[in-house]
Amino acid sequence: MTNDHLAALQSDHIAHLKAAYADILSRHGYDAVLISSGAAPVRYADDQAHHHHGYGHFLHWTGLAGVEHSWLLIERDGTARLWLHRPEDFWHATPDLPTGAWTNHIPVRGQHTVNPPEIAMPARMAVIGDPAQIAEAPGDPNPPTLLNALDEQRLIKTGYEIACIERANELAATGHQAAREAFLAGGSEFDINLAYQKATWQREAEAPYHSIIGLNDHAGILHYQHYDTAPPSVAQSLLIDAGVRYRGYCSDITRTTGTTDSPRFRALIEGMDQLQNRLCDAVAPGLEFAELHDRAHQGVAALLRSSGLVQGLDEGEMVRRGITRAFFPHGLGHSLGIQVHDVAGKPAPAPENAPFLRLTRRLEAGMVITIEPGLYFIPSLLNPILDSADGHAINHALVDELRPCGGIRIEDNVLVTRKGARNLTRPYLP
Ligand code: GLY
Ligand code: MN
Ligand code: MN
Repeated sequence: MTNDHLAALQSDHIAHLKAAYADILSRHGYDAVLISSGAAPVRYADDQAHHHHGYGHFLHWTGLAGVEHSWLLIERDGTARLWLHRPEDFWHATPDLPTGAWTNHIPVRGQHTVNPPEIAMPARMAVIGDPAQIAEAPGDPNPPTLLNALDEQRLIKTGYEIACIERANELAATGHQAAREAFLAGGSEFDINLAYQKATWQREAEAPYHSIIGLNDHAGILHYQHYDTAPPSVAQSLLIDAGVRYRGYCSDITRTTGTTDSPRFRALIEGMDQLQNRLCDAVAPGLEFAELHDRAHQGVAALLRSSGLVQGLDEGEMVRRGITRAFFPHGLGHSLGIQVHDVAGKPAPAPENAPFLRLTRRLEAGMVITIEPGLYFIPSLLNPILDSADGHAINHALVDELRPCGGIRIEDNVLVTRKGARNLTRPYLP
């Protein structure tokens, strides 16, 4: 996609936001909303700040993930203005005033102060953002019903947002390929992280989330947060869950790779890949996501049976007895956008049998979701089953053989279309 095409889509996106905000503000009795960019908190008892990722509603209009102490005023008549914080500072670089075509629709001014702009504000105002940043700002702070409505309209993506998420997928795919090569060349978790960063040309702190890079049994720690600097003596598996942020929008992709030292694990990856593809193909408007999550459990049960991990129980029984949940404890996916676990995914609590499900909605065209089934060998979840009355149905020897491989997750980003779905990851990454 050319930059001109993207700029045209961005203009449409801003026009869409202006209309949507006008409608939401009038329904909630406001003339305007002031949106804070937020700012990174300073570490306790220190003079160093955390990295700032921006407030979602601020990014929705501007895509400016790194800027702090800036203010966006949206009025009901469709006027949008941005005050960008440009301090007099000889310690840090000051952000340049943006010049993209979008600034024709959102005029931008620089200001030295961290305070809201000193202009005559409309009478009925809301102000939204991090409570620590908006305490002194004019307007009703974070009105819950207004925030819910603004969150909800982030569920359905515009053409511009879809293009950004797709580009974030394309960029992340180069990182995943480099990571796989670094793994097969014998790299450590740390080496693999460097390979990912170099290929994606993205600082670690700017990634949408901390890349999860686990070798061997670390692949079975769902949000494994360290990087061993030394490679294991025998490398059997790599699970890498890593994304890229592009113009504020995230990708969230996972791949699992096995080596020739672990043929049974590789067969399991192949089975999971087929299941994951079937689940992506099943995505369509009107489908309850919780129902697709249930189908994923049926698929995991079939894989447990065909691999010989579980014997003598039918698939429904494996699900009912909680055996599939011990192998696949997390939800099938979530909404994806400016935040990796994007807002408004859970209007209803997760079902009792899927307590970690982050998306409890019926799918609608324009949503972007992840599809990320998994199958892990997590001692704290598997050992109680192995020791229970159901333990006889589980092939202990095979579990013990596969434990050192940790686990499998395969995750793509999928757009719900009017007729079905479009996978935004697979065109770039097998
Ligand atoms: N990367 C976190 C997740 O997949 O939800
Ligand atoms: Mn992920
Ligand atoms: Mn995810």
